[in-house]
Amino acid sequence: MCGIVGYVGEKNATPIIIDGLQRLEYRGYDSAGVAVFQEGEIRLRRDVGKLNNLRTRLAADPITGGIGIGHTRWATHGVPAEHNAHPHISMDGEFVVVHNGIVENYLELRDELQAEGVEFKSETDTEVIVQLVARFAANGAQGDLTEATRKAVSYLRGAHAIVVMSKRQPDRLVAVRIGNAGGVALGLGDGENFIASDIPAILEQTRKMIFLETRQMATVWADHVDVQTLDGKTLHPEIHDVAWDPVSAAKGEYKHFMQKEIFEQARSITDTIRGRVDFEHETVILGDLDLTPQQAQDIQRIVTVACGTSYYSGLVGKFYIENLARVNVEVDYGSEYRYRNPILNDKTAVLAITQSGETVDTLAAMEEARDKGAQLWSIVNAIGSQAMRIADGYITMNAGPEIGVASTKAFTSSIVDQYLLALYLGQQRGTLPEALRRQHVHDLARLPDLVGRVLDRSAEVEALAHKLYQYTDFLYLGRGINYPIALEGALKLKEISYIHAEGYPAGEMKHGPIALIDEHMPVLAIALKDSVYDKMISQIEQAKARGGIVIAIATEGDTFIGTKADHVLYIPQAPEMLTPILAVIPLQLLAYSVAVARGADVDQPRNLAKSVTVE
Ligand code: F6R
Repeated sequence: MCGIVGYVGEKNATPIIIDGLQRLEYRGYDSAGVAVFQEGEIRLRRDVGKLNNLRTRLAADPITGGIGIGHTRWATHGVPAEHNAHPHISMDGEFVVVHNGIVENYLELRDELQAEGVEFKSETDTEVIVQLVARFAANGAQGDLTEATRKAVSYLRGAHAIVVMSKRQPDRLVAVRIGNAGGVALGLGDGENFIASDIPAILEQTRKMIFLETRQMATVWADHVDVQTLDGKTLHPEIHDVAWDPVSAAKGEYKHFMQKEIFEQARSITDTIRGRVDFEHETVILGDLDLTPQQAQDIQRIVTVACGTSYYSGLVGKFYIENLARVNVEVDYGSEYRYRNPILNDKTAVLAITQSGETVDTLAAMEEARDKGAQLWSIVNAIGSQAMRIADGYITMNAGPEIGVASTKAFTSSIVDQYLLALYLGQQRGTLPEALRRQHVHDLARLPDLVGRVLDRSAEVEALAHKLYQYTDFLYLGRGINYPIALEGALKLKEISYIHAEGYPAGEMKHGPIALIDEHMPVLAIALKDSVYDKMISQIEQAKARGGIVIAIATEGDTFIGTKADHVLYIPQAPEMLTPILAVIPLQLLAYSVAVARGADVDQPRNLAKSVTVE
């Protein structure tokens, strides 16, 4: 969960940047660095571990200047090490960059730059950005930082938040946001300006902020800022007055935590993937599970135990693990497991999925499994929670704190964790051909950007919510890998808007729920261009024949579906295994917008608790 801070003004940038990074410490990081322009040069200090290490280094070897950028890094590409920490400097020493996100095509770009004679000093994807800026500054942009950055970012695939500083124009910083790899806030001061990935980093300095939208960039001087689209159109963005109290500050530009958490998902998913994938060798590393090939081969069965949203996540994970690792998976409710005298032995791994790590029913299922001699694994978000402590091995979600009671980003992160687990097991067990593993790793790198593209269409979901919010019953249908997403979509709607909603595997509709369908019941069908598309079309036709109002979640480019459904919400084309993570987002947004339209208390819905510690 990397953090970015930038400063330009009269004061010494270094302590302002370090203080800002300190305020983002809660997000987690493994190294930190700062670059300041001093006496005609870009001076760089970086260190691994906590900010205190960097502070000690700065005390021994200070850097001072009125402009600088800093970063706390959590490794994606390349191990945590000083040479991989940001900021990264170009080979000619003229440009320096900090970056959040994943450059999906960094290997291609690195090869291309190396062929031009560029020498790389790190294993990071980020370094290609600064080398590209240097290339275009020397060639085409006449040294102009804004233009060189604009050209450089047009070569990047993926979602990014970037800040660049130049030795040639040391009076300005350039910030770019593409997709949802995290925010870019511009803090406006008096004769000084700030840049941050997260509001708390600069809230002590100013409350006046501009938030960059996707595909926007800003050139920031001490006394003014110039915001443009990536295509060069000048914008006049709204200046927000961010409230001081910690709760409003934490919500930032969003009305509710749930909304913030939905929109954070490109970033939270990046954080889930971070450190678990070696993108260069296209392998998966799960250090806190750490199974030898023999241990992985010895596992004959996995039993997933979880409750609520985490249970639905387990249903998606079953597809992954059975497909990629060829291990039989059963998914059970944590609340039921101990009442069944389950059959377990040491060849069975019981996988508990729990955001809070404290759900009493899931913990009881884990205890039952332990008593019966099974291996115990957990997928948890809350670090240090009981489910993490009692497990033999665990995978953290790294989604960051989830405050909204309705789970959103933890759901998608726990699905990604299971995708990683399936790849890891397939790799260790030898069931996954190398070419396929490489393809899946490649797909994972694309995921944050795809998520960002779904989020970019949120206005369409909001408009639809205004047409639907007065209905009192909904049916959600999905098939194959997306049938659990129908269940999750229905759960989201019922828990925050108090509308009755049922989720079903689509093929089950004719075995009962079809009796409910009439013009008063919207039917939400996940009908993507995948292996069950034709089946979903026939379910839609059956629902239409009974007068139902059909809303389809469909694949971009599918115009045919518009002739069948009343409303269509599109997600980008993607490999089938990634589609549950994408398809759930419009459903989260729909539940959110419907609840807001009904005036419900979105973050604290009635009768629900974030952590269910009673039976
Ligand atoms: C729904 C929701 C709940 C939780 C369930 C399990 O939005 O949040 O259904 O998923 O209570 O919680 P954890 O994952 O903390 O065990």
